[in-house]
Amino acid sequence: MAAKGTTRRHSFSSSAASTTSSCLAASLCLASLLIIVLLFSAARPTVLPKYYRTAPQFDGRHDSSPARLENRLSCNYSDGAWVLDPDPIAPRYDHTCKEIFKGWNCIANQKTNGRDLLRWRWQPSHCGLARLDPLRFLRRFRNSNIGFVGDSLNRNMFVSLVCMLRSVSSEVRKWRPAGADRGFTFLDYNLTIVYHRTNLLVRYGSWSASDPGGALESLGYKQGYRVDVDVPEHTWADAPGFHHILIFNTGHWWWAPSKFDPVKSPMLFFEKGSPILPPITPEVGIDVALKNMVSYVEKTASIGATKFFRTQSPRHFEGGDWNEGGSCRLKKPLQSNEVEEFFSVEKNATNAEVRVINKHLYKSLQGSSFRILDITRMSEFRADAHPSTTGGKKHEDCMHWCLPGLTDTWNDILMTSLEDAGS
Ligand SMILES: *[C@@H]1O[C@H](CO)[C@@H](O)[C@H](O)[C@H]1NC(C)=O
Ligand SMILES: *[C@@H]1O[C@H](CO)[C@@H](O)[C@H](O)[C@H]1NC(C)=O
Ligand SMILES: *[C@@H]1O[C@H](CO)[C@@H](O)[C@H](O)[C@H]1NC(C)=O
Repeated sequence: MAAKGTTRRHSFSSSAASTTSSCLAASLCLASLLIIVLLFSAARPTVLPKYYRTAPQFDGRHDSSPARLENRLSCNYSDGAWVLDPDPIAPRYDHTCKEIFKGWNCIANQKTNGRDLLRWRWQPSHCGLARLDPLRFLRRFRNSNIGFVGDSLNRNMFVSLVCMLRSVSSEVRKWRPAGADRGFTFLDYNLTIVYHRTNLLVRYGSWSASDPGGALESLGYKQGYRVDVDVPEHTWADAPGFHHILIFNTGHWWWAPSKFDPVKSPMLFFEKGSPILPPITPEVGIDVALKNMVSYVEKTASIGATKFFRTQSPRHFEGGDWNEGGSCRLKKPLQSNEVEEFFSVEKNATNAEVRVINKHLYKSLQGSSFRILDITRMSEFRADAHPSTTGGKKHEDCMHWCLPGLTDTWNDILMTSLEDAGS
């Protein structure tokens, strides 16, 4: 437990003790003791600015009285509002966390509202949302493996959790278990947190027509992507058996025309090794793929594993889509009426994709043993929380999230859901 801080203080006092004995003879003793005292106080944690209040150690959520539990279990964490905290709680990590991908580090990249992001707190309408307490988390999930499986938005959430935990426990082993893209074991707790990179969950690769040609060639297809709806990508195929807690996502890649252009490089769906005929569209393909992957995970997950599917993360492009000069320069979260303008499916809004994808997810997960981690509604308000022009890309980044930032709150909800699940 928190061995590092303790060790450091230990060695300090023993060296102080030996200094004391050796300098007893010298007349400089008092002066050196004074220096030691000064050094010692400099090594202690600095006092937080008044601006912050400290996080409560315990709050109502950990009260297990029947009334509290009832309130918690019936709470709808999606129903709420962002409030500007006049008296914000100290951040759990900052821009110095090395795991933050450069383009997401809004404070280091001097996004004007980079620090203000931390002052917004999600307030559910009918209950409180406790903050994930990193030490409590490490102790609680000692000896376990937690895997994030999905696209870069799941990596964003993974980084948030790693940074929170590293801020209180820095002894880590960096490695890539079970096909992972990256992972860390917190050595003092034997807790492993891993990211498995996969865009569609299912395996895909480029396809081009060959001689003598089969069914797809005879339909006139020249090139595209072969998408095997029943084969998990190798990057995570072993993850269900390895992890005790899994958090999946997939979504925007299914409608990513820069890669899967419907004409120039369409998705060509295969099942049991043969093309699905007549060819199906991505709208149908995603359902078939999800159905297969859900049942793959149910079959291969370790006994007692807790499986989450995270709902879709919203994008906030205004004045055009991502490749049409769309931007997200707002400094405050959206109001409810503005949210509808951004996401309305009926109005064919630029960012309506998020709600379309969620319909597919909810349909495919129905009747499964997955729990749904619903972060969509709360995130729809946060047009202010993307890297925007500070993302360092050719196009403005209105898709990923600044870190520290919104995905810290996703992890708060994850922690809450794990406690409710009794994990
Ligand atoms: C939770 O609240 C959201 C937002 O108000 C609403 O759309 C959703 O239907 C609610 N879910 C349940 C299970 O009541
Ligand atoms: C560390 O955790 C893993 C499970 O995640 C377990 O198999 C292993 O035995 C643990 N190691 C120790 C030393 O407890
Ligand atoms: C929706 O908007 C896109 C451009 O953003 C356009 O290409 C498409 O035709 C529109 N669809 C409908 C049904 O209006």
